[in-house]
Amino acid sequence: MDTKRIFVTRKIPEAGLRRLQEYFDMEVSPFDRNLTPAEIIDMAAGAQGMVSIVTDRIDREVIDRLTDIKIIANYAVGFDNIDIEYARQKGISVTNTPDVLTQATADIAIGLILCVARRIIEGDKLVRRGEFKGFYPMFFLGVELENKTLGIYGMGRIGQVVAKKALRFGLKVIYHDKILHDEDSLGFPARYVSFEDLLRESDFISLHASLTPETYHRFTKEEFRKMKNGVYCINTARGPLVKEEDLVRALKEGWIAGAGLDVYEFEPKVHPDLITLDNVVLLPHIGSATIEVRERMCMVVADDLIAFFRGESPPNKVN
Ligand code: DGY
Repeated sequence: MDTKRIFVTRKIPEAGLRRLQEYFDMEVSPFDRNLTPAEIIDMAAGAQGMVSIVTDRIDREVIDRLTDIKIIANYAVGFDNIDIEYARQKGISVTNTPDVLTQATADIAIGLILCVARRIIEGDKLVRRGEFKGFYPMFFLGVELENKTLGIYGMGRIGQVVAKKALRFGLKVIYHDKILHDEDSLGFPARYVSFEDLLRESDFISLHASLTPETYHRFTKEEFRKMKNGVYCINTARGPLVKEEDLVRALKEGWIAGAGLDVYEFEPKVHPDLITLDNVVLLPHIGSATIEVRERMCMVVADDLIAFFRGESPPNKVN
């Protein structure tokens, strides 16, 4: 194939850059920061392929201006940052990086469940402040996981792995999804419930749905109001699934016991009240942030671009 030009919007691990360089005339943004849409349009001009990241807004205007682009390989499993339908209309393929980050993201969800249930981060902060005065029976009580119910909203790849890991901690799993999976195909015990029952029955609710117009603000004050007393909410999916100001209200008014968050509605902004609350654990969108995963994501992106420019269908095409 003749050498195609690929623009990479932000530095990715060396292994991926080397692989892309073997096949393409590759240019990486020289800035160590996220690019504005205008900068993407400017820097990607003339490129036939692009590697984008979740913070790149690839909307209609950007797509219209990227007249040479034939494929956008999104360095993420989520692709809500790209108008994939408009890209399809314009003949642009969009790909993502599923599978390789499933275990890592599920680990972060389980980590957040443990942190909120056993007050791990709160305890660490207390010790560092010099406030640990010794053990006593009523000190720093959390809740145990054994026999509690984990409600999974979105039983896709990540939701399923969270469920399997949670079962090993003795949690019972219920789920709500647009697809009803039978237990034989799942390979583990998990009961399908209505969305209302998920809210009512769960002791922990963990969000694993992708962000779409249907899932946007799926959790607002109405849903928090219906949840079981003492429930903990975990979000490692996308911030806008939750109306953040309603979550803050639910936490402050004690409708829910706590939250573990890796993603935010207005990322990277975090609601200022969340920062002041002790019953919330806040992470900086690190679900897939391991050395191994980020390298594997590079290989997936490179394989999709290579396949595409060989005239094959890229394995991870989403539109
Ligand atoms: C994803 O892959 O969608 C993560 O949120 C970013 O790595």
